[in-house]
Amino acid sequence: MGKLAINGGPKVRQKPFPPWPPKDPGFKERLGEVIDSGVWGMGGEMQREFVRTFAEWCGATYCVACTSGTTALELALRACGIGPGDEVIVPAYTFIATASSVVSAGAKAVFADIDAATLNLDPRATEAAITERTAAIIPVHIGGMPADMDAFLALGEKHGLKIIEDCAQAHGAEYRGKRVGSIGDAGCFSFQSSKNITSGEGGAVTTSDPEIHARAWSAHNVGRVPEGRWYDHRVLGWNWRITEFQCAVLLRGLELWDEQDARRQVNAAYLRERLEDVPGIEAQAFIEGADKSAYHLLVLRYAEEAFDGLDRDRFIAALDAEGIPTWRGYNPLYREGLFAEEYGSLHLPVTEHACERGSFWLGQHMLLGEREDMDDIADAMLKVWKNREELLDE
Ligand SMILES: Cc1ncc(COP(=O)(O)O)c(C=O)c1O
Repeated sequence: MGKLAINGGPKVRQKPFPPWPPKDPGFKERLGEVIDSGVWGMGGEMQREFVRTFAEWCGATYCVACTSGTTALELALRACGIGPGDEVIVPAYTFIATASSVVSAGAKAVFADIDAATLNLDPRATEAAITERTAAIIPVHIGGMPADMDAFLALGEKHGLKIIEDCAQAHGAEYRGKRVGSIGDAGCFSFQSSKNITSGEGGAVTTSDPEIHARAWSAHNVGRVPEGRWYDHRVLGWNWRITEFQCAVLLRGLELWDEQDARRQVNAAYLRERLEDVPGIEAQAFIEGADKSAYHLLVLRYAEEAFDGLDRDRFIAALDAEGIPTWRGYNPLYREGLFAEEYGSLHLPVTEHACERGSFWLGQHMLLGEREDMDDIADAMLKVWKNREELLDE
């Protein structure tokens, strides 16, 4: 028997972390309002209130609420006029939808490498990937950490490209005093169950461009136009509409967000401080201008050298046994079955290092606890580091 829980020793933590989504009675109240209204789908008051509120909350003029973050990305791409013959530059350290939405829109996803400190798309690698076919860039605010928007806007300006922010993990994140989703040509949000504002499933496109808004609106509503009749379909579109139930839950989620966000910010700042004393673990870096992470994830960088070569997956297993659940995160997207054949020879070294060995995540709900919960996380990491020889000897 060793000192580490994975080897039979006592666990650092016995308790679970706070549940997500939260069990708040306000959700039931708002859902009751929908039932009483008799309108469950299109044309209801909740949807009108939500798109108005969410656009304003992000600092954008318009919002189209839809079925998911995946459909939000495809709507934004289509509304920006992206299609066959176009290339769109995306990171490969992200969820599949960032790239699959490009394929769905008929264009080609071009993967560029990420920055080692922020794990966000690297503007220099992005510029090197620009060709005469490039039509857009999708910077992802990964984990909720704002990407280098000044650099991407400058590339957009210089090369005539649309900048579509993937804000699926970044509700309320701030860059140079602006909320994400109001900085590029369009912003795409997800309200899937794990997200910091959720309705189980759901998504939204934000923009301040009336044409992008009009095109996204028509595309998500089977090609209708707001002033048109029910059976008046002017362009190709889909039924990617949100329900009144989802909007009711999202409106309550927005009310709860302030307190939740304040908690995540305080806890993340404290945990970052504690992690300074854990060799080999470093939190995702803020670049200049990235004023606030939404902390959907606390993305951590792992240096196996500091653990005498202990691999990241073994470290995570030991941490899990101590009562601290974390995730190893993504595979490089170009290694997923969807893309593997087409991109077989592609190597993005920083992405591959982050995916295979160099990073792992804590979920946002873990940051909703108390200061002692953060101490448990840091103590468990320190315990594994101190007792790493127990894992290396095997
Ligand atoms: C970065 C990123 N983009 C897009 C999406 C897609 O969102 P959804 O799951 O709502 O389709 C997600 C969500 O999981 C995501 O994390």
